[in-house]
Amino acid sequence: MSKTFYIETFGCQMNAHDSEKVVGTLEQQGYVQTQVEDDAGLILYNTCSIRDKAEQKVFHRLNEYKKLQGEGKRFAVIGCVAQQEGEKIFDKAPYVSIVAGSASYRNLPSMLERLERGESRITGLDDKKTTETFETPFVARTNQHRGYITIIEGCDKFCAYCVVPYTRGNERSRTSDSVMEEARRMADAGYTEIQFLGQNVNSYLDPLRKKTFAELLVAVGELSGIRRVRFTTSHPRDFTKDIVDAIDATETLCDHVHLPVQSGSSRVLAAMNREYTRDWYLERIAWIKAAKRDISITSDLIVGFPGETEAELMETATLMDIVQYDAIFAFKYSPRPNTPAISMADSISEDDKVARLKVLLDRQREIQRISYERHLGEVMDVMVEGHNTQRVQVVGRSSQNKTVNFTTTSPILPALGSYQRVRVTQTFPNSLLAEAI
Ligand code: 5AD
Ligand code: SF4
Repeated sequence: MSKTFYIETFGCQMNAHDSEKVVGTLEQQGYVQTQVEDDAGLILYNTCSIRDKAEQKVFHRLNEYKKLQGEGKRFAVIGCVAQQEGEKIFDKAPYVSIVAGSASYRNLPSMLERLERGESRITGLDDKKTTETFETPFVARTNQHRGYITIIEGCDKFCAYCVVPYTRGNERSRTSDSVMEEARRMADAGYTEIQFLGQNVNSYLDPLRKKTFAELLVAVGELSGIRRVRFTTSHPRDFTKDIVDAIDATETLCDHVHLPVQSGSSRVLAAMNREYTRDWYLERIAWIKAAKRDISITSDLIVGFPGETEAELMETATLMDIVQYDAIFAFKYSPRPNTPAISMADSISEDDKVARLKVLLDRQREIQRISYERHLGEVMDVMVEGHNTQRVQVVGRSSQNKTVNFTTTSPILPALGSYQRVRVTQTFPNSLLAEAI
């Protein structure tokens, strides 16, 4: 087998960052990444299983890969579908050599050695009891200016609809010392933005008991060279007021909280096992809105959870009116294997789910059209993310995580990753237009 590999990644930011660590590990073992599947000796497929019959898509994709199968070509299925389907993958796709879930990536070097010795059914499947995290100094980050740090892996919340506790294992935090060391190394390497990752990032519990989640945010925000710290995703159940206080007191902490509510109905929330009510959630929103800074709030929503009535959907809509989210990610409920909700009747038809989704998305568009107007004339710093040469615009991101397209009169476009002060000249439901000042 030639020591070249190709990797394709699906799913959330955790998966994207896992792939950065997997690539780092492979490179450390002497492998070279290729951008074309055909050139690779080892093809890795980092899978997601959050919604929509994801496992079927994986098998479909594997069938396509099969056509590539040639002398010395090996396949690895990793990530959430790998953990979920386990050894069944070998039965359905015998040409796959490695099946590994994220909770076993720390064993990748030995899995690769076995692969090189010619073994064919190599598994890295979590027994759900692991207390270990995947810590490696070898991270092939794809962006040189902003980078992820996973501070907590897994999930213990067991929302009735969600596959994650079964694919990513139980909740386990890294030590604050280890996180600080990684952040320091990134700052030294020129990173100015750090984003903490975790399925429930604010459930972080320092094994050393040295720092709370809010204290860890502040400590990284105070590192020399760091200009922005973000974190995602927060769970309302564990959202404490000291996080808001930390944002208020520390300029480098971005003024944005992603706090998924899932539903505005306390009845549905209970059925979802979210462990909070509408009022509990709105109390946390009130803390955020009481901050001195204008903190943007975003959310995930699910429509069509088993038994959701039209009236309960409207409770989600009225909650959106109260919160005035800066962005939402709304999904149609999708039954997932192993989850408690799979045994509840998937009672809402697909057409109904589509219609309910539209109700929320239309409402949100109107909310954003009006609420983004508050930025008109505002002066803000944006991080440059790209150039749009046709329209002589630069694409940047605000601290609130909004897209800001801006023009500049300077003959030299600002460099990627640099910060530019701009004034907002026009607002849209999903972006801001500005000029460099
Ligand atoms: N069906 C639809 N949406 C889901 N999510 C998680 N599981 C499901 C599911 N079974 C959504 C939630 C979560 C986001 C990452 O994906 O809104 O916050
Ligand atoms: Fe997909 Fe969830 Fe796994 Fe992320 S953790 S890759 S969203 S199933």
